[in-house]
Amino acid sequence: MFPSTSDNRQTKKLAERFEGKVALVSGAGSGIGRAVARRILAEGASVILLGRTLEKLEETRLCAPRERVQCVAGRHENPADSDRAIQVALRTWGRLDVLVNNAGEFLQASTADTSVESWSHILGSNLTGPFVLTRNALPLLRASRGSIVNVSSTLGIQPIAGVSAYAAAKAGLIQWTRALALEEAPHGVRANVVCPGVVDTPIHSQRGANAAAQFLKAAARLHPLGRVGNPEEVAAMILFLASEESGWTTGASIPVDGGIVLT
Ligand SMILES: NC(=O)c1ccc[n+]([C@@H]2O[C@H](COP(=O)([O-])OP(=O)(O)OC[C@H]3O[C@@H](n4cnc5c(N)ncnc54)[C@H](OP(=O)(O)O)[C@@H]3O)[C@@H](O)[C@H]2O)c1
Repeated sequence: MFPSTSDNRQTKKLAERFEGKVALVSGAGSGIGRAVARRILAEGASVILLGRTLEKLEETRLCAPRERVQCVAGRHENPADSDRAIQVALRTWGRLDVLVNNAGEFLQASTADTSVESWSHILGSNLTGPFVLTRNALPLLRASRGSIVNVSSTLGIQPIAGVSAYAAAKAGLIQWTRALALEEAPHGVRANVVCPGVVDTPIHSQRGANAAAQFLKAAARLHPLGRVGNPEEVAAMILFLASEESGWTTGASIPVDGGIVLT
């Protein structure tokens, strides 16, 4: 069956949601960040891809018009790297409308087994990074009355044993997003956070390929919808929060999790 005229109009509207907008996506070389970058590019935005590994960012940009993508290799918690990414936005397009703080790292370790260095590292990549990048981006986001979307985790709402540094960082990200939303509302900047359940991405491969496959199979059963998520499903929510469709939503933390926080 062919879509009706109103469906056509809706499809066109979605395809053009980010026409003329500029977005910065951290952790864009893999998983959820790559899905966000590819979809926002497909919907018309120009995008700065930030991540640790240039080759992975180059792979994300494949198929996208070269004039609409800039890759910046660096760590978001490093002020110089973050500033470089913002300067690329300013020099290349003169604006920034959307910031997606997606980069992060997982650590499976209880408090007793977490060194001070590991604690600092996990807080750096999951909490300090978004803060540093956002702080650098705020002047441009205020100018465009832009939108910030942070990527936390259901573990930031409901922890399990053995992930304490990661759970603490992701909980901090949720509360910081709420504070940021209040602070920036008078400037017209919105800030929201998504909390994914278990999503099938390379973040789990640090367990080893077989263990990752087994983990994902077991995790599927824990989600009321009976499966783990895919990066595109999380990207869809992130794009909604980044777009003007969610123009009256700020400070919200939204689980995208197959229902696991209900259990
Ligand atoms: N997958 C899940 O089950 C799940 C569930 C809940 C929340 N999350 C969150 O979702 C976000 C994306 O995770 P993912 O599953 O897509 O993982 P992923 O496939 O491992 O991707 C993470 C990306 O972040 C980049 N990155 C990590 N630390 C960085 C840093 N300090 N500075 C700059 N870039 C950095 C990595 O760069 P390189 O590739 O170059 O190393 C990678 O491209 C993370 O915040 C994660 O905590 C994931």
